[in-house]
Amino acid sequence: MKERVRRVFAGLGDSVEALLIANSVDPHLDQSFFYFFDVPGGLFEGSVALAHRDGQIDLFTSALERQSADEAAKSDAAVRVHAVDRESADAVLAKELHGAKTVALNFAELTHGWFTRLHTALPGTQWVDASAAIRKVRSVKEPAEIERLRKAAEIGSKVGREIPGMLKRGITENDLAAEIEYRMHRLGASGRSFATIVGFGAHGAEPHYAPDATRLEPGSSIVCDYGAYYRRYASDITRSFRFGPADAELKAAHETVERAQDAAFAKIRPGVPAREIHNAAAAVIDASPFKGRLIHNVGHSIGLAVHDGWYYGPKVDDPLEEGMVFTVEPGIYLPGRGGVRIEDDVVVTKSGYEMLSTAPRGYLEVAS
Ligand code: GLY
Ligand code: MN
Ligand code: MN
Repeated sequence: MKERVRRVFAGLGDSVEALLIANSVDPHLDQSFFYFFDVPGGLFEGSVALAHRDGQIDLFTSALERQSADEAAKSDAAVRVHAVDRESADAVLAKELHGAKTVALNFAELTHGWFTRLHTALPGTQWVDASAAIRKVRSVKEPAEIERLRKAAEIGSKVGREIPGMLKRGITENDLAAEIEYRMHRLGASGRSFATIVGFGAHGAEPHYAPDATRLEPGSSIVCDYGAYYRRYASDITRSFRFGPADAELKAAHETVERAQDAAFAKIRPGVPAREIHNAAAAVIDASPFKGRLIHNVGHSIGLAVHDGWYYGPKVDDPLEEGMVFTVEPGIYLPGRGGVRIEDDVVVTKSGYEMLSTAPRGYLEVAS
């Protein structure tokens, strides 16, 4: 992990002596902790990674995680593990950092509680925000990361192919969400990468809807948005279906979203400003009868987190780089009626992109 630490330090000022990543309590865990300390298991609540300019990492963790920590440290000479308990971690850090004038923190993820503890333990220290540097380095994936993302997308895609077979009259949104998550687990996922979204009928018009006991009835549209975690890396896939009698408007919406997604894909290659991907998809939707019905950015980076820190919308100028992995997820939302979203995961290659998710996306009317 030395190289990762060095890359982040290259984006920080010369005066920064150390970079400190501190976890709070689940779900307030900074996934950057696992970028610097690649460990398959363990929760690492209250644990701290202290990275130094030379690439060395001191890891402070409790007895709860000791076994995982020692195992992982064995394969990475840059990591030294220290035992602390949660209550005294700040005192140990104060000793370790004694005399350090400038220390970088990940402002985007650090809790205020942790900041207050650090500030009290080290009153003279100047704190620098490392979040932009970390986000930039994390946004370009190494081949080993891409392999895990590919596997996470493969698991999601396999389950995506099975969803039409799960659509039976009377099942609830909760049933379907549970079945999707169960099958991902069976296929080797360590869990879901976010709370699965299953929305029947009008519920599909809300992009971040939470499933409930609503039953599937003939004439419902269906939006399923779900993802797997595989060795800490996430996939994020959405497929939309129709149960029972065809509906001309939703069918037209689905076809429009497919064309929007194709227009977005056609823009992806290194050097292209990210906004062009969003704008290409939005232009297709705005030229259709569904003008204005795309209500979110067309995509975001994925990695250790499903929302890995970077989004692209109409004003994002960042040029695409080989190795970036993100979603392409245009949608059309018709309040009171339903919605259509199609979401796939791609990696930017030298000359274009490669699809990581592969489940068929076409409009499918499942017989009710
Ligand atoms: N699963 C939430 C999203 O697609 O961003
Ligand atoms: Mn999604
Ligand atoms: Mn997404």
